[in-house]
This record gives sequence, C-alpha cells and structure tokens, in this order.
Amino acid sequence: MINVRCETLLDYTAIAEVNTLAFGQGNEAQLVEKIRNSNRYISDLSLVAEVENIIVGHILFSYIDLVGEETLQVLSLAPLAVRPQFQRQGIGSALIKAGLEIAEAKKEAIVIVLGHPHFYIRFSFQPSVVYEIESPFPVPEEFFMVKVLQNYQKNYKGKVVYPDAFDEV
Ligand SMILES: CC(C)(COP(=O)(O)OP(=O)(O)OC[C@H]1O[C@@H](n2cnc3c(N)ncnc32)[C@H](O)[C@@H]1OP(=O)(O)O)[C@@H](O)C(=O)NCCC(=O)NCCS
Repeated sequence: MINVRCETLLDYTAIAEVNTLAFGQGNEAQLVEKIRNSNRYISDLSLVAEVENIIVGHILFSYIDLVGEETLQVLSLAPLAVRPQFQRQGIGSALIKAGLEIAEAKKEAIVIVLGHPHFYIRFSFQPSVVYEIESPFPVPEEFFMVKVLQNYQKNYKGKVVYPDAFDEV
C-alpha cells in the first residue's frame, strides 16, 4: 500500500536520503533544500510516498518562469526520486498523478519536466516545442516536456528560465 501525502518538517532528512540514493549524488537533495528556502517553494506540492510508514519516494513541484511577451510563473516538476529497492513498483507514477491532481486543483496552467519521454508520455507530457515553449538547455526536443492542464491558455509560450537554485543540477 502506497500512501502519498505532503511533506512535513520531520520528513526533511528522509527526503534528502531518498534523493541522494536515487540519483547517486547529493545535488538533487541540495536542490530540494534550496527551493524550500526560496520564494519558488509550494508547500502543498512537495509530496512523499510512504510504504509502511517509511518514506520511499519524493516529488517536488516548484515555480519557474516562462518568459514570452509577459513573464508567467509555471510549475517545474523536479526532482522526482524513488528509493532504488522500491523502483518499478508504481511509486513514481503515484507521486506524479497525485501532484498533477493538486496542480489542477490549484488551477495551474502547465507543468514542465526534463526527463525521459518513455516515462512521462504516459502522463500525457508532450515535447514543449509543440506549445512553442523553449528549453534553456541544449537537450533533444523530446526530453524537454510539458503537461498542459485545464487552465492552459495560448499565451503560455516563450523560453523557460530556471531560478539559480537549479544551477548545479
Ligand atoms: C524515474 C523514477 C522516479 C521512476 O519511479 P518508479 O517508482 O520506479 O516508477 P514507476 O514504477 O511508477 O514506473 C516505472 C517506469 O519508470 C521508469 N523507470 C523505473 N526505473 C528505472 C530505471 N532504473 N531506469 C530507467 N527507467 C526507469 C521506466 O520508464 C518504467 O517503465 P517501464 O516499467 O514501462 O519500463 C525512479 O526510477 C528514480 O528515482 N530514478 C532515479 C532518479 C531519476 O532519474 N529521477 C527522474 C528525474 S526526471
């Protein structure tokens, strides 16, 4: 049984551990801390997945900028991490689904992710170029993706700009 809920202060150490183990380095755990300490943090969109009261997964959505004719705040999905022994059991998917539901409820417009299309396509992420949304990174088009939510409008286009917190990931 997987239980998904918002993070609390008591979860910070376990969240850092899950990120460090999943990515095999400390950069993503540090990213989470930097975002938490910034004005881009959204407390109800940092979610943990528990199995038998142990934190086995974590997902963070935070605000980044989409710079076009105007600058709009949109959601970034990063990082997403599942404890290695618990991968391929649906935990990552459960975290994404729960996060997207909350994002819809908060009337957000889009979610941006840099990741593997094989994984994200199942949640209807599409290459961002389809919506004239440009990546700040030199990555193949299909890896920079957007999930369009119900509140999407056509003015959501331009270049994505990540806050400094992302510099080291
Ligand atoms: C990517 C990750 C979050 C997926 O979580 P998960 O709980 O294993 O995912 P689910 O069980 O819900 O979904 C399974 C899918 O995840 C992907 N996946 C899971 N483990 C993977 C691995 N070791 N390598 C590549 N893809 C993997 C596959 O696409 C798999 O689909 P498939 O079984 O059809 O091939 C998890 O593997 C992880 O923490 N990886 C290390 C950190 C990372 O790369 N994060 C992604 C940042 S975009």
